[in-house]
Amino acid sequence: MTQQNLSLIDEVKRRRTFAIISHPDAGKTTLTEKFLLYGGAIREAGSVKSRRSQKHAVSDWMEIEKQRGISVASSVLQFEYNNFCINILDTPGHQDFSEDTYRTLMAADCAVMVIDSAKGVEDQTKKLFHVCKMRGIPIFTFINKMDRQGKDPFELLEDIENVLGIRSCPVNWPIGSGKEFKGVFNRHKNQVELFDDGNHGQSIANSITGDVSDEKFNTLLGDALHSKLLEDIELLDIAGDNFDLDKILNGELTPVFFGSALTNFGVEPFLESFLEITPPPTPRSSNLGDIDPSSDNFSGFIFKIQANMDKSHRDRIAFLRICSGKFEKGMTVNHVQRKKKIKLSQPQQFVAQDRVIIDTAYPGDIIGIHDPGIFNIGDTLSEKQSNLQYSGIPQFAPEYFARVSTKNALKRKQFVKGITQLSEEGAIQVFKQPNSGMEELIIGVVGVLQFEVLEYRLKQEYGVEMLMNSLPYRYVRWIENDLSKYGKLSMPMDTLLVEDKNSNPVVLFQNEWSIRTLIERNENIVLKETSL
Ligand code: G4P
Repeated sequence: MTQQNLSLIDEVKRRRTFAIISHPDAGKTTLTEKFLLYGGAIREAGSVKSRRSQKHAVSDWMEIEKQRGISVASSVLQFEYNNFCINILDTPGHQDFSEDTYRTLMAADCAVMVIDSAKGVEDQTKKLFHVCKMRGIPIFTFINKMDRQGKDPFELLEDIENVLGIRSCPVNWPIGSGKEFKGVFNRHKNQVELFDDGNHGQSIANSITGDVSDEKFNTLLGDALHSKLLEDIELLDIAGDNFDLDKILNGELTPVFFGSALTNFGVEPFLESFLEITPPPTPRSSNLGDIDPSSDNFSGFIFKIQANMDKSHRDRIAFLRICSGKFEKGMTVNHVQRKKKIKLSQPQQFVAQDRVIIDTAYPGDIIGIHDPGIFNIGDTLSEKQSNLQYSGIPQFAPEYFARVSTKNALKRKQFVKGITQLSEEGAIQVFKQPNSGMEELIIGVVGVLQFEVLEYRLKQEYGVEMLMNSLPYRYVRWIENDLSKYGKLSMPMDTLLVEDKNSNPVVLFQNEWSIRTLIERNENIVLKETSL
């Protein structure tokens, strides 16, 4: 094995790439910030949010984002902790999330699910969980805000199992809750960890650790809390699922941690266990079989394209997830889908809160590549094997639809150009009714905010004002059957047959009931929620 290959193997081993999924306000930003604090990437908590507003100032097309104080575009952060190199893929934190949120999950190797202890599993978490489950990636649960009065921990576990349909195994268990939240019991290490209130989470929390039977904990916790803890431990041992690494890695069992991102209680024990349990980047499937991350061919795929992050550069940035080999600045690679060679000269990486130009990067890392309009979501870049293609990124089911056209017929060309580019970026999905032209299109989006973004960007970037009529459809299904062979479909009244951009047949539905009706009326029809 060459020296170069050895260092590549070492670099892969120390990489962890994960997404944080949650419902808005569960504490994703706070937890991310605390990871950076423990990793030494920031010195004091409280800086991420202020930086976040600075970042908004440079994204001109996201005036809306600024006005509403929400983050529309998902971003990437890299930091080091205990010699691990960690990539966090952030997902938009507002209810109006977009397809980008889903796509980001395609680039992650595992996910951290943050749940508010007072609210349990919420809507957006459910949707994101569904995508993680589909990929079979490990999902870790962090039950946050234990410093507030929340639901009973056993009830929360039940909620996860009932609502999400995944078994859970607590790795640590809360000692008290609300004002009485004193620390956690680590079931793995069989160890109690009590935290010191410190300075309200601004810096790393001090802790006292030891065996649960140690007398000092009885004194520190008081009789009532101590005996409640002993009872809980016993109950968990009898009733809970056992820790099973294989099941965790297959996404069948979620390890659960309790803590408070705000006060830092339980953040470090979570990070440590998480890094210990999660795997480094694993082989990815492609048309040439599974590709080993330590193969000497540099390769990766584009999972997100973002426009105009910087006002002075109107070009786009394509986000590439590296899957194998070492990336070196200035290297020439094959753009597989376009069958062209391209030079990667100004690659960017997202370290802590800054964007920097980088010289090298490794599997698991995400790099931003300048895109003069040549990339599509799902494209593969490969240094040596020019025919390597990673499995595509599905089109996720939009939930809102509108019929759109241009106000001014003379702007038709710009309208089509704008819509095409925005759909390539993956901001919207375009459908049309069979045999209709490009003048009137049906746009599908995952979150309603995308309509505003579309309207804004068409006007700002293409000078087009559009007309938009929202449609009552909420569900979409791709038809797998070959319709030319299938014959005539029997469609329920309130449905619409359309085509996607690749002319695949798609049905729009208003409710789940009509999906069932269509299945009942059409024998052997195969419907899918996503398309590849
Ligand atoms: P998000 O990214 O998931 O949307 O959530 P974020 O971290 O922004 O947290 C949402 C709110 O919940 C914030 O309060 C934050 O301070 C609070 N929070 C996060 N973690 C904890 C925790 O462990 N315990 C408690 N008690 N609160 C927590 P905010 O008032 O909306 O914002 P701010 O003014 O505090 O910044």
